[in-house]
Amino acid sequence: MNAVVKPQQPDFEAAAMRVPDLTEVMAVERVAYPVPWTHGNFVDSLAADYPAEVLRGPRAELLGYWVAMPGVDEMHLLNITVVPAWQGRGLAVAMLDRLVDECRRRGLTQLWLEVRISNTRARDVYRRYGFSEVGKRRAYYPVVEGPREDALLMSLGVSS
Ligand SMILES: CC(C)(COP(=O)(O)OP(=O)(O)OC[C@H]1O[C@@H](n2cnc3c(N)ncnc32)[C@H](O)[C@@H]1OP(=O)(O)O)[C@@H](O)C(=O)NCCC(=O)NCCS
Repeated sequence: MNAVVKPQQPDFEAAAMRVPDLTEVMAVERVAYPVPWTHGNFVDSLAADYPAEVLRGPRAELLGYWVAMPGVDEMHLLNITVVPAWQGRGLAVAMLDRLVDECRRRGLTQLWLEVRISNTRARDVYRRYGFSEVGKRRAYYPVVEGPREDALLMSLGVSS
């Protein structure tokens, strides 16, 4: 039987997301989502000082990014995106690891996220990472055409 060989995870460096990153981030956002975040959504998150990072490869090329919103005891993942050409190489898992570390640094014990019901790829990644599906938010997401789409609410306990 042939073993399944995973593509190699690229070398990357993570850095806090800054406004000058947003031109590249928005270019990815527009191809990665049917209804992307706006430039203003990112600017507002950075202005609010939410934790947010970009991952860059050896030639400083953008590989992925994430944005989260801290609460009193919990963290809410708002956006996690891997550049399409770099998907399936463990970069989402690497970003989730960094987010969990950020929760630990802040003493936050629960991580939450919403995901479109139709986004089976992301749901699988989250489930395998250890998230549980804990609820549904009806008509949460806008769509290009037609009725809004439900979100699944997923949660992960973060041990200290
Ligand atoms: C959903 C999304 C973030 C996943 O990103 P990804 O980089 O493809 O995910 P990963 O590669 O980290 O994980 C996918 C699988 O590849 C595996 N993998 C492949 N190569 C790997 C490597 N070299 N090292 C570690 N894991 C590897 C992971 O283990 C994981 O496998 P599993 O699902 O069996 O556990 C990405 O598809 C994306 O950006 N989609 C568009 C935007 C989006 O939908 N975002 C989420 C909104 S809620």
